[in-house]
Amino acid sequence: RLPEPFTVPLPIPEVARPVRPGRYEMTQRVAAVEILPGLRTEVWGYGGTFPGPTFELRRGIPAVLRVRNELPVPTSTHLHGGVNPPGSDGYPTDLVVPAGHAAPHGHPGEVHHPVAKDYHYPVEQRAATLWYHDHRMDFTAPQVWRGLAGMVLVRDEEEDALPLPRGERELPLMICDRSFEEDGSFRYPQAHGGHDHSHARDPDFMEGVEGDVILVNGAPWPVAEVTATRHRLRLVNASNARRYRLRLSPGGRFTQVGSDAGLLAAPVAHDTITMAPGERFDVVVDFSAYPPGSAVTLLNTLAGGPAGNVMRFVVTRRAPDDTAVPAVLSRPPGRPRPVAARTFDFRRTDESWTINGHRYRPGVPLARPRLGTAEVWRLTSDFHHPVHLHLAHFQVLARNGSPPAATDAGWKDTVDVRPYEVVEVLARFDGHRGRYMLHCHNLEHEDMAMMADFDVI
Ligand code: C2O
Ligand code: CU
Repeated sequence: RLPEPFTVPLPIPEVARPVRPGRYEMTQRVAAVEILPGLRTEVWGYGGTFPGPTFELRRGIPAVLRVRNELPVPTSTHLHGGVNPPGSDGYPTDLVVPAGHAAPHGHPGEVHHPVAKDYHYPVEQRAATLWYHDHRMDFTAPQVWRGLAGMVLVRDEEEDALPLPRGERELPLMICDRSFEEDGSFRYPQAHGGHDHSHARDPDFMEGVEGDVILVNGAPWPVAEVTATRHRLRLVNASNARRYRLRLSPGGRFTQVGSDAGLLAAPVAHDTITMAPGERFDVVVDFSAYPPGSAVTLLNTLAGGPAGNVMRFVVTRRAPDDTAVPAVLSRPPGRPRPVAARTFDFRRTDESWTINGHRYRPGVPLARPRLGTAEVWRLTSDFHHPVHLHLAHFQVLARNGSPPAATDAGWKDTVDVRPYEVVEVLARFDGHRGRYMLHCHNLEHEDMAMMADFDVI
């Protein structure tokens, strides 16, 4: 039933076309797609596809995205890594409710937009690999699992000036795991059955839900043909709960050029890349290091068995390559001086995941940083928690008092906080005032209340 690994061709999601300059429309709908050869899988997709279309946005050119909801459930669309006004940030109770759907649960402060909502993205941010996904209160995990995720590439002049691989030699790669039923449908554990039950507080899935099939751009363990030249890989871990440690076989290096929030100042070479849910890595791989005809496999060394394979590149032939990875990539903003320090403790309490001892309380901020300032946020944990901040980008200052890992480089919005670790980040609160959030990006933890608001004042 499952395909042999490395037999399904790697799909590349369509690039979204504006309906007129700066204006996009996208309908969320149920669709049947072929993920496992010969079987149909029902997805809930942006534009009826999984992943959704890729948005190519340019710094300085604002975009309006109208999301229309034809799914059987309410949704909220979050642009992860976006520096956007609070009303367009995809707050969990800021819901687009489909026609004919009875009013949802009625969390305090819940807002209902009938059928469609316009999200306003100023795109006043550096070139970066972003992604968008559902963020509905209590149901993010099952709704993303069903397909509500896609990529956004922000471009700018600083990036244009670099001789990095582009066009066919730039591959967006959205990695996530899923499980399937015999008939090809997605298997997601249902606490009570039906669409409209989350398992907020389900003791069986406290650690999150993992699948045994690794998908890249929605295809199981795909294969891509590449010329023996440099390629730029825009890696996104869109999994609910799975972490990956990526490695190339039979050997090779990833030259990292960008992190979550944009280009690095200088490239960083890695033999392996550990990616927690929500994180992105922008890397260059030089396939001229392998003889034409060779197979280069992207492995996940954190898993054995099927989840230990991710995808394969088959090197076809030599070809001219005028690309390079310059020693200086960009001039990212420097580190501002922090004006405050706070601690956020991510911990299991009874049947919930909590921050500073609280289950999520919409509208009750745990912090009020000032616009235009920076703060040190100390993140402590009892388990693996990929911690994500909306709006604010940060740099990792320390892990357990030691220097950060090589994969922590650059400005980020998600950090892999490991069990019993204390991670210090320096966060900048720029761009907009208002209500934002921090949360664990293990999506089951998020649905089990590991979220908190902060207000930028
Ligand atoms: Cu990618 Cu609040 O999420
Ligand atoms: Cu968590």
